Amino acid sequence: MSRAIVHPFRGFLKGNIRCPRDKSLSHRAVMIGALSQGETRITGFSFCQDCLATIECVRALGVDVQIFPEEEQVTVQSGGLFALREPENVLNAENSGTTIRLLSGIATGIEGLTVLTGDQSLRKRPMRRIIEPLRQTGVNIGGRAQDNFPPLFIRGSTQIKPIRYLLRVPSAQVKSALIFAALKGDGPSLIEEPVSSRDHTENMLRYVGASIRKENTTLVVEPCQELRARPFSLPGDASSAAFLVALATLLPGSHVVVHDVGMNPHRVGFLRCLERMGGKLKFSNQREEFGEPRADLEVEASSLRGIEIGKDLIPSLIDEIPILAILATQAEGKTTISGAEELRVKESDRLKAIAQGLRSLGVDVEEKVDGLVLEGPVPLRGGVVESFGDHRIAMSFAIAGFMAQGDVVIEDVDCIGISYPHFFQDLVTLGCDTFTLSNS
Ligand code: S3P
Repeated sequence: MSRAIVHPFRGFLKGNIRCPRDKSLSHRAVMIGALSQGETRITGFSFCQDCLATIECVRALGVDVQIFPEEEQVTVQSGGLFALREPENVLNAENSGTTIRLLSGIATGIEGLTVLTGDQSLRKRPMRRIIEPLRQTGVNIGGRAQDNFPPLFIRGSTQIKPIRYLLRVPSAQVKSALIFAALKGDGPSLIEEPVSSRDHTENMLRYVGASIRKENTTLVVEPCQELRARPFSLPGDASSAAFLVALATLLPGSHVVVHDVGMNPHRVGFLRCLERMGGKLKFSNQREEFGEPRADLEVEASSLRGIEIGKDLIPSLIDEIPILAILATQAEGKTTISGAEELRVKESDRLKAIAQGLRSLGVDVEEKVDGLVLEGPVPLRGGVVESFGDHRIAMSFAIAGFMAQGDVVIEDVDCIGISYPHFFQDLVTLGCDTFTLSNS
């Protein structure tokens, strides 16, 4: 297991960069390619560990997936919606909630047995949220510990009853699993989401020919006979860009342009909050592909003030709360994050991991059942922080380390490869190199 020692950095970030391509879109592009007739060429694929897990699982379902990492390209060749086959072995989603949950929806419509599992962290994450609604299709599906955890088994079928379901948690993973299953329903499915979550699955499926419409808060998914392969060119990942944006905001004199970042309105809560805190952002070269907006993102250093972040905003910044908490330590006044209990069931219990890490750096933070409260600005002192094997926790505390007054040691940073394999190299590209990586 590797360790990062991050030394205080008193310089600034400068330059132009492309951050990793979008992880959520990369998973979906491979899965939708597997369901589409013909060859799907994906350019700008994210070769992070989570997305590689998706590729392996999709291959195990009988789909030909070729990878070209140097060109950031993947091609998926499939016979279409009904071409996927019962896998010979257990599918391993490793650390990826998106992989296991979305593939469960797809496996619901594959004749035969699919068993899905994952690593130690994934095997503790809640699965009843997909099992219960997927059972409405008439398919036999279950999981370990009274359906709570992986491994999951699915006895799939092509005879799928339509789903009518009100989402209890605003989760794009649950919604997407249900949409994939509903494509093979024998009538329209209705999926109601009181609070909207990222709509990548809907946008990308429409682009290849599915009929999915939104009526108020309800998605109507029509059964589908065929999806037609079309190319995907994926933008940068706003959730990865957030770390660079945060550090550039905090280091006086910084000026960074992150090129071609995904700007899906359900993903930009972090940027909107940063603007409310006083962050200096500019968006240029705005455009849209397959229903997904993207833009170049320019950030300059600025001073920040604390804000309140409530329940309704959480889905749009669900993965950015760890780095937002680091920003809040340097903002003037109180920051309150509430309605974020979902963070307890991510790759780690993120509320606990953030609170514990911040305390090690001398921050007086209140950990609530559903959020965090802290008052800034606080000088961060050196210390030792546990990543809990969670990529976003590890990267957040690396950013904190550059701002601290002493060395910050982060244990177990290998996990950063889950979403951002070139994280430290990208920081060096922008001029920030005061860290040492070693095997602990
Ligand atoms: C994701 C959705 C979010 C997010 C995760 C990726 C996706 O999870 O936290 O990192 O790709 O659909 P939930 O929708 O379950 O909150």
